[in-house]
Amino acid sequence: MKKIFLPVLSLTTAFVLLSITGCKPKNAGDATGSDAASRVYVPPGKYDELYNFVSGGFSGQVSVYGIPSGRLLRVIPVFSVDPEKGWGYSEETKPMLNTSHGEVPWGDQHHLDLSQTNGEIDGRWLFANENNTPRVARIDLKTFRTAEIIEIPNSAGNHSSPFITENTEYVVAGTRFSVPMDYENGDVPIDSYKKNFKGTISFISVAPKDGNMKIAFQLLLPGMNFDLSHSGKGPSSGWFFFSTYNSEQAHTLLEVNASKRDKDYILAVNWKKAEEYFKAGKGKKVSVKYAHNKYSDSTHSATSTIETETTIIDTKDFPDIAYMIPCPKSPHGCDVDPTGQYIVGSGKLAALIPVFSFAKIQQAIDAKNFDGDYGGIPVIKYEAALHGEVKKPGLGPLHTEFDGKGNAYTTFFISSEIVKWSLQDLKVIDRHPTYYSPGHLCIPGGDTKKPYGKYLIAYNKITKDRYLPTGPELAQSAQLFDISGDKMKLLSDYPTIGEPHYAQAVPAELIAKNSTKIFKIEENRNPYVTMGEGKSKVVRSGNRVDVYMTMIRSHFNPDNIEGVKLGDDVYFHLTNLEQDWDVPHGFAVKGAPTGELLVMPGETQTLKWTPQTVGIYPIYCTDFCSALHQEMQGYVRVSAKGSNVPISFSLGKNSDAADSLLKK
Ligand code: CUA
Repeated sequence: MKKIFLPVLSLTTAFVLLSITGCKPKNAGDATGSDAASRVYVPPGKYDELYNFVSGGFSGQVSVYGIPSGRLLRVIPVFSVDPEKGWGYSEETKPMLNTSHGEVPWGDQHHLDLSQTNGEIDGRWLFANENNTPRVARIDLKTFRTAEIIEIPNSAGNHSSPFITENTEYVVAGTRFSVPMDYENGDVPIDSYKKNFKGTISFISVAPKDGNMKIAFQLLLPGMNFDLSHSGKGPSSGWFFFSTYNSEQAHTLLEVNASKRDKDYILAVNWKKAEEYFKAGKGKKVSVKYAHNKYSDSTHSATSTIETETTIIDTKDFPDIAYMIPCPKSPHGCDVDPTGQYIVGSGKLAALIPVFSFAKIQQAIDAKNFDGDYGGIPVIKYEAALHGEVKKPGLGPLHTEFDGKGNAYTTFFISSEIVKWSLQDLKVIDRHPTYYSPGHLCIPGGDTKKPYGKYLIAYNKITKDRYLPTGPELAQSAQLFDISGDKMKLLSDYPTIGEPHYAQAVPAELIAKNSTKIFKIEENRNPYVTMGEGKSKVVRSGNRVDVYMTMIRSHFNPDNIEGVKLGDDVYFHLTNLEQDWDVPHGFAVKGAPTGELLVMPGETQTLKWTPQTVGIYPIYCTDFCSALHQEMQGYVRVSAKGSNVPISFSLGKNSDAADSLLKK
């Protein structure tokens, strides 16, 4: 195992080698302590201690688990359509998935960050990134719904995102791929990378009251890959730190070409200074196109606006915004400890963990203790910024979280373990195998000023033999550890949705007490609301038919509709009149290609249907709402184009057409 760390060896190759040489930890089946079962057991009817928000990776969603039980509580659709919630199917939610490229129904969601006040989790919002078509979402933790999505221009592979400042002033979005800027001609040879490809870091402001996001400014940076980040806090407040790789500026075979240099960089950004320049009007306004989508709990519908301008601040013209700190070798995680004094870089090909000191970084900047520049950005000397190195911690360090008691916990992908070490003397204190190959990890509040420090959850990339086989693809896995004592104790495994990357966890009481139970019907401002059963109607306007329909246990009003013709676009506007917690109704009409609806108490949602053939189309409720749920049904009659069947609608009586038929 010792000789595999050749400079050009890829992580994948290294992993394959390790698999061959058998790096599976011993005692894999029997690693839990004897009291583990009782530690994770939450009796029926009792609540979990914590919410755990876990990114879904390629699922584009976020899942919510209870800790310590590992029970799945909810999947929150963010960047992907979701048939369980109707997200992206109802007319009201469709605009949320709009981008400058049109509707994108499936995203790649990697990282999460909970909103903070004074560096502590405040339980208001959860931010989520999308890599592929760069976007940042804000999830409202009252409703567990995506409230806002903003696209990031001049960016590709939005990976170092959505990390926030300690009072949620900004959410950052650093581009993974450097690309030609949107406002310049992008039709250039790929091998002109060094000349034409640039990196950006976007600062998205968050309005303190309602959380509304806005791209404030974008920093223009040399072409390279921006990977992960965390903001400073306490003494390092006003600063942001980003890991970068590919300082070689390779554009092909990166596994070799971007692993040549001994060190890449951690980028330190004085965002307060950048903000000052921005507010003084120093940036350059450029024309771009990006979507900004918002969901309103008052109209129960989303709007999508295409924005056309952003402000660029070129870091090479403002020498006191950004500094490079050399960091061995292709750093991935970039984590700041709870005191705000230490910045941990995790070089995924490095055999040590460098820990940088914020105070020393400041001294080096003041003394101009630089080693040249990188693309016009001063490079601080490695030793001048270094607090120290954790020696021989393991293989392939990726991410670090903190327990608030002076300890750091780092995941090691290649050696498949979590290593606990001391921030004070940088000595390894404990190590525990994971099953297998952990990527991110989460300690509740572990990236804030105030970690809760009782549990640690590892998110593993490779599950192999941990669960019953389910065909070629296995569930990815989370593993819960007790870190309250000196030694880490493995408590349980639980499978996850999609591929978990970064996660957040928070004591349940911070969120549960504010949870929305119903939407007040009298506050429903959807333009198609039906405020009571007496207001139900069906209105034709040309070839558009609007059905204003209500739902209440256990019927639709109306439930018989006639007069729809081929060539019509029918809009079913369903208002759920219930004002009780947890009484949604569903709606389905046979043949509707846009799917179904699920409507929460007090809410209005719309399904568009363009019938394709003449006939009778049943409608019914898809959510078991009462003992007579199965009776919650009705019919829509579709007639030929040009037919003279008039629009009619009713509930609880035969229609005029039927009456006349019976008289014959
Ligand atoms: Cu309404 Cu089932």
